[in-house]
Amino acid sequence: MTRLCHQQDLAEGQARGFDPAGTGQDQLLLVRHAGHLHAWRNACPHVDGAPLAWRRDAYLSADRRHIVCYAHGARFDPATGHCVAGAALGSALTAVAIEIKNDGEVHLAHPTPQETTP
Ligand code: FES
Repeated sequence: MTRLCHQQDLAEGQARGFDPAGTGQDQLLLVRHAGHLHAWRNACPHVDGAPLAWRRDAYLSADRRHIVCYAHGARFDPATGHCVAGAALGSALTAVAIEIKNDGEVHLAHPTPQETTP
């Protein structure tokens, strides 16, 4: 099972990207919002596959209330993934299932493709 980080590594209003399959580009992001961790694919629903951030870990708006796609400025609710303003209205980010262990370690709930390759 793929470890991402420890839950305490992300403070409130902080987001971080991860590339568990080693593709060279962060495939998902974790964000702590209202005390909870949420994981989303780093892919904007406006133009499928478009990465959200313009530089590493720059996923949030300046007020840290929304995840922002910097291509065309769509804003997403960090808890639900729904687009709340901008070019992707009516769509949502894709959730990534995570698991927080008793010791606080955060893992992907499902193996990465590399882990399932024989
Ligand atoms: S690609 Fe994300 S808002 Fe257009």
